[in-house]
Amino acid sequence: MKKRLAPSILSANFARLADEIRLVEEAGADMLHVDIMDGHFVPNLTIGPPVVESIRAVTSLPFDVHLMIENPDTYIPSFVKAGANLISVHFEACTHLNRTLQFIGSLSCKAGVVLNPASPVEWLEDSISDLDFVLIMSVNPGFGGQKFLSQVLRKVEKLRAMRAESNLSFAIEIDGGIGPGNLRDALSAGADWFVAGSSVFHSPNPSETVRKMREVFKEFETV
Ligand code: DX5
Ligand code: ZN
Repeated sequence: MKKRLAPSILSANFARLADEIRLVEEAGADMLHVDIMDGHFVPNLTIGPPVVESIRAVTSLPFDVHLMIENPDTYIPSFVKAGANLISVHFEACTHLNRTLQFIGSLSCKAGVVLNPASPVEWLEDSISDLDFVLIMSVNPGFGGQKFLSQVLRKVEKLRAMRAESNLSFAIEIDGGIGPGNLRDALSAGADWFVAGSSVFHSPNPSETVRKMREVFKEFETV
């Protein structure tokens, strides 16, 4: 599967958001990760649909919208209207997960489920045929710049095995503490898509970091 790098704008300079987005787009980013937090599901607040709609005008990168919110169904249509292309919801925040995934699909978006570090991949056994991607959190969600939790790599490996056994083709995304230093470990475990916030936007040369990380992908893109 083609590997994808998704810089997370959470660590970008919001006063210069359009420039920051153009920078990573020109450097070869594959999609843009947009973190939505509600102050309830996670102890932090970020942005809502108006900001997503504004940045939709400055880039053609697909928007990978990560909803860290309670009652996601209520807000999904607004994010689709604002320009989301992929939407992921937390398993821990969904009462009727299959209904939510079908709802996202019915709005012509790719549907993903996110698992917190303490949530086992086995919880997805009865929904993996309804989703386009699984996002494995490698930090506890809520903040950028946290330390990568390497124990989640075992979950990535398990998920890859579940995918092979069930003959499915969903993508495995990983989010939190990812950067040039641990990218190969995450690739070896079987991740396909990589979210990177602070390692890109807080690096001295974000374009160079994007290019370097995409260079590493080539080692793993033989099939
Ligand atoms: C954390 C967010 C992440 C965050 C990643 O709750 O879901 O997407 O932006 O930031 P880094 O890469 O700095 O851990
Ligand atoms: Zn995220």
